[in-house]
Amino acid sequence: MAKLHPIIHAAGIEERPPDWAVMSPARISHARRVGRLMRDWADALGHDRQTRIRWRATGLLHDAFKEEAVEALRPLVDAAEEWPDPLLHGPACANRLRASGVNDEPLLRAIAFHTTGHRDLDALGQALYMADFLEPGRIASGQERASLRRRMPHDWPAVLVDVATVKIGILIDCLLPVSRATAGFWEAITGPVVANRKAVD
Ligand SMILES: [Fe+2]
Ligand SMILES: [Fe+2]
Repeated sequence: MAKLHPIIHAAGIEERPPDWAVMSPARISHARRVGRLMRDWADALGHDRQTRIRWRATGLLHDAFKEEAVEALRPLVDAAEEWPDPLLHGPACANRLRASGVNDEPLLRAIAFHTTGHRDLDALGQALYMADFLEPGRIASGQERASLRRRMPHDWPAVLVDVATVKIGILIDCLLPVSRATAGFWEAITGPVVANRKAVD
């Protein structure tokens, strides 16, 4: 097994955030639930131990800067003006991890785009996007989330589209802008669904 970066090891095995994280106890609990859900999916998919640790670490780390001040996050992000304030914590955390020597690009991309989605997210990034929304501590629409959770990981592509539909729908309902990253993500994940539908028609 290749050596894990100490931050990934601590997060993925001991559920311990890095010392620079700014997280309330409630936030750490959320991050732990996200990480455990991702670990469970990796397990159900038959992934090896290192992958299970990596997936769990990604969940544990994704909101490490969620409660950091926006003024402190902006200098950490290139083209910060393109990111609305509530989305800065993802790319800022990815860049902070990179500065600490974490060079696992799929993991960094997963964390940077965990709120928006991105067309280049791999399975790890898609898992974080879904787990952040489906973790069992979220009370709102609890039954809907539980039924989506029960379909994971075997019904992955359809659940991914269902989660994105709800998340993008919330943006539209609130008249909030849909970012280019989200639009590209939506196009990428619905492409196979549309192609299948055309084949059936
Ligand atoms: Fe977040
Ligand atoms: Fe989160």
